[in-house]
Amino acid sequence: MSVVSASLNSKICVVASSEALSKAQAWADFFKCPLNPVNLSDFFFHFHVENDRVYVRDLENRLLEIDFDKNHLDYERKGHRGKNELIAKALGVAKGYRKVLDLSVGLAVDSVFLTQLGFEVTGVERSPVLYALLKEAFAKTEKEYLKSYQLHFSDSLQFLKENKGKLDIECIYFDPMYPHKKKSALPKQEMVVFRDLVGHDDDAAEVLKEALTWPVQRVVVKRPMHAEELLPGVRHSYEGKVVRYDTYVVG
Ligand SMILES: C[S@@+](CC[C@H](N)C(=O)[O-])C[C@H]1O[C@@H](n2cnc3c(N)ncnc32)[C@H](O)[C@@H]1O
Repeated sequence: MSVVSASLNSKICVVASSEALSKAQAWADFFKCPLNPVNLSDFFFHFHVENDRVYVRDLENRLLEIDFDKNHLDYERKGHRGKNELIAKALGVAKGYRKVLDLSVGLAVDSVFLTQLGFEVTGVERSPVLYALLKEAFAKTEKEYLKSYQLHFSDSLQFLKENKGKLDIECIYFDPMYPHKKKSALPKQEMVVFRDLVGHDDDAAEVLKEALTWPVQRVVVKRPMHAEELLPGVRHSYEGKVVRYDTYVVG
């Protein structure tokens, strides 16, 4: 569970310019935290709201922003291999599966790529700050293929329990934080803020266990190449250089 979401309101404040006050107040209400407090240094994370942009800065001035159009995190992947991408194969693109539930949206690098590859993605994120950054990024993007993305603010375990049998989903995708992950596609300062915000996903096996009870064709878990399986029962692993996709076949 995230260290921050447990007591987020004591660590974060919202900072806004005068022209963005109403949007800023809505996010301050969502985080249950102060807007434009007098002593900014009392808060470790500053969620900045400007007219055309939101981002987070920590007290050490590290910045995290999500902008699907700027491509700073490689959102628009040029020269991809379409249906031959490992992630697409793992999700069963050859069998015609397209409707994916992403249980760990994070910065949405995978979700956006899947959407670019033609998957219809519903995503769940439990970190309030990540959710806020994502929500604004999806609202702002000019990429047509992202307009139909369905984003939910929830813990995936709860989401899975509440929505079983109610959604039209063919495969489930899960990429929990891995504690010993050495390599990351993120630039360093962004990775630090991201990790501080989401913490460890110690409940990942429990989430996977619940996912495996869903009436879907496949459940796919992304793991670092040499990590242990999250749960036994992997049917097939699609192996890349740094990561692999463990596929569980349900039923
Ligand atoms: C390793 S990151 C995922 C990165 C993502 N695949 C991407 O491409 O940007 C893990 C993310 O999943 C979220 N997460 C992990 N377990 C979750 C759960 N049970 N419910 C909701 N979100 C979860 C974390 O908050 C974090 O943002």
